[in-house]
Amino acid sequence: MDDHVDVAEPIIGDEERENLRNVLDSGRFLQGEFVEEFEKKWANYVGTKNAVAVTNGTAAIQLSLKALGLEPGDEVIVPSLTFGSTATAVVHQAGVPVFADIDRELYTLDHTDLERCLSDETFAIMPVHLYGHPAEMDEIRAFADEHDLYVIEDAAQAHGASYKNDIVGSIGDVGCFSFYATKNITTGEGGIVTTDNDAVAEQLRMLRSHGMANRDQHVTLGYNYRMSELNGAIGTAQIDRLNRFNERRKEISGRLLDALDDLNWLQPATVRDYVEHAYFWAPFEVQTEKIGMSGKEVWENLREQGVETRHRYNDPLYDQPVFARHRGFNSDFPWSANPNDHDYDLSLPNVEAVVGSMIGLPNHPNLTEEEIQYVIETVREFDTVAQVR
Ligand SMILES: Cc1ncc(COP(=O)(O)O)c(C=O)c1O
Repeated sequence: MDDHVDVAEPIIGDEERENLRNVLDSGRFLQGEFVEEFEKKWANYVGTKNAVAVTNGTAAIQLSLKALGLEPGDEVIVPSLTFGSTATAVVHQAGVPVFADIDRELYTLDHTDLERCLSDETFAIMPVHLYGHPAEMDEIRAFADEHDLYVIEDAAQAHGASYKNDIVGSIGDVGCFSFYATKNITTGEGGIVTTDNDAVAEQLRMLRSHGMANRDQHVTLGYNYRMSELNGAIGTAQIDRLNRFNERRKEISGRLLDALDDLNWLQPATVRDYVEHAYFWAPFEVQTEKIGMSGKEVWENLREQGVETRHRYNDPLYDQPVFARHRGFNSDFPWSANPNDHDYDLSLPNVEAVVGSMIGLPNHPNLTEEEIQYVIETVREFDTVAQVR
């Protein structure tokens, strides 16, 4: 071990290599048999009738919005603490993101804030299963049904997580996943949409391929968001290993949580007893007033000691310049197409309390026993140094 522990690592085995070699030897790189197999296996894993593979998770969200019928200026309620593309994908499709607060314990969308966010323009709610913990789907679904809204699950961080025995991606009208290199399983770059709705799936298939219904006709404004065979070849092998990866993530995360339980400045995230956490992160909330340091300083210090951690997100989405300054299509479109005046001069209490203080310790399935011990010892040593500062 060289005194450096990575926070994430893609795990590529013999089957992925063999599949890739087959694609390279065949010379057929376009979306084909491996992508089809990947889609069938993922639909089967999640428990939906359809899965439609695309180039990445952001494309999955954008296409879902269009396939469900979002019109320019329609609003989509999103949590304020998530990766930017949960909301930029809405803008790409000419929709307007509306930022909700987060649950103080789970960090996912706060369903008690939905009423405040609702307007005549609301089209959908997009909960994010942040860090691998499912959002409170029963309450979100009930609110959506009451107000006739779609539910789009952003499950980019939660492969294999479940909520009251339902695998995420099968609970909303559609589920969107990313297979970026650091995720629980990867295709290199990649994404997929899951849905029980055959008509939406058909739209998605057309939209990802230039909006063409056949060889000659562009029947709608589509994109080239197809997944290549190279990505599909990796993905189909990865699905077979997801449960084992997740078990190992859970085991390592549990070890870290137990071993660091007594540190008063490092608070483990809450896990509800009716969910299966995907442990994309082993998340801790840094109690900044107890250690006298920001989450970013803790992240920097641990990195200097060779322990790479995740540290996200350092800003609420409503503070990001793209949203705060309404920079959509080099103008203030699509906000200008929306009758509501959305200034994003927000300060949502739970987001503000948490932002910048979340870190995730290394928990990927490839960690060796020595590396796990090194993470624990380094954090404990840092605790001693930090407390006497
Ligand atoms: C919550 C969330 N949504 C969407 C995405 C976008 O996925 P991609 O990077 O594959 O476009 C990511 C990140 O990668 C994410 O973490």
